Amino acid sequence: MTLTAYNQVPVPSFMYGTAWKKEATTQLVQLAVASGFTAIDTANQLIHYQEALVGEALQALEKKGIKRETLFLQTKFTSVGGQGGRTPYDPSADLTTQVRQSFDSSLQHLHTEYVDSYVLHAPFSRRGLSEADWEVWAAMEGFYRSGKTKMIGISNVAAGQLAELCEQANVKPMVVQNRCFTALGWDQEVREICQANGIVYQGFSLLTANREVLADPAVHMIAQRLGAGIAQVIFRFAQQIGMLPLTGTTSERHMKEDLQAEQLSLSAEEIQRIETIAL
Ligand SMILES: NC(=O)c1ccc[n+]([C@@H]2O[C@H](COP(=O)([O-])OP(=O)(O)OC[C@H]3O[C@@H](n4cnc5c(N)ncnc54)[C@H](OP(=O)(O)O)[C@@H]3O)[C@@H](O)[C@H]2O)c1
Repeated sequence: MTLTAYNQVPVPSFMYGTAWKKEATTQLVQLAVASGFTAIDTANQLIHYQEALVGEALQALEKKGIKRETLFLQTKFTSVGGQGGRTPYDPSADLTTQVRQSFDSSLQHLHTEYVDSYVLHAPFSRRGLSEADWEVWAAMEGFYRSGKTKMIGISNVAAGQLAELCEQANVKPMVVQNRCFTALGWDQEVREICQANGIVYQGFSLLTANREVLADPAVHMIAQRLGAGIAQVIFRFAQQIGMLPLTGTTSERHMKEDLQAEQLSLSAEEIQRIETIAL
C-alpha cells in the first residue's frame, strides 16, 4: 500500500526510522529492508543519526541486488541549534549555503543522486515562521524544482506554522513528520491541515509517547479481538486514519510484526475509541 501527496508522488505506508541506532545502523537498515520495509528515514544530524551508515547499508543492499530506485529515502536538514556542535556544513555560512552543503553531504552519505523526500527538521522557533525558516524553505524549493528531491516537507511543526507555510510557500510541503500525542487527538489539528492540502502525515513515537494508551483496556480488547499485539493495533489504527507511522524497532520480530499490522482491520467504532481515548 502507498500514500500519495498532492504532487502524486507515492510514499510507502510504513517507514523505518534510523535514529539512535549508532553503529548498529548499517546492520539494522539491512535487516529492515530484508524484513520488507521500503522507506527509510534519516537525518544529517550526527547527534541522533548515522546517515553515512545508512548509506553503507544501501551499498551492501545494492550488492545483494536491491536497487536504490526501489527504496524511498528521506533525510533532513537540521539547523546549527539542533546539531550538538558537529555540523555537516559550515556553521558560519549563510543559511542558503548551509542547506546546500547539508543536502550535498546527504547525497554523498547516501550514495545517491536524489532523495525521495527532504525535510526541514524543525522550524527555528515554536511560533510562526521566521525569515530563517523562509530562507531554508526557498533553498529546499530549489532542490525540489531541480528534481534532486521528489518531495519537500517539515517536521516538528505546529498547526499555525503549517497553515502559514501552506498559504505562503511557492511550493507547499508534501510531507509532515510529527511526534504524535494522544492527548492532542493524535495531532488532530496538524493532521486536518495535511488532509486538506494533500500532505502525507508521518507520525513518530506512536508507542513511546503514548504509554498510557498501550495499557488501556479498550486497546487490549481490540488486540484480543484481532489476535494481534498492542503495537500492531496502534500502527494499524494510525494507517486507517490516514497516517504514515514510523517505527524505530531494533528487533527483527517486531519489524515483521509492525509490517504485518497492515493486514488488520479495525472497525469504525474501534478507530473512534482510540482516536478519542485521551480527549
Ligand atoms: N523528526 C524528528 O524530530 C524525529 C524525532 C524522533 C524520531 N523520529 C523518527 O522516527 C523514528 C521512530 O522513532 P520512534 O520514537 O517512533 O520509535 P523508537 O523510539 O525508535 O521506538 C520504538 C519503540 O517501540 C518498540 N516497538 C516497535 N515495534 C514493537 C512491537 N511490535 N512490539 C513491541 N514494541 C515495539 C521498540 O522496541 P524494540 O526495539 O524492542 O522493538 C522501541 O522501544 C526514528 O528512528 C526517527 O527516524 C523523528
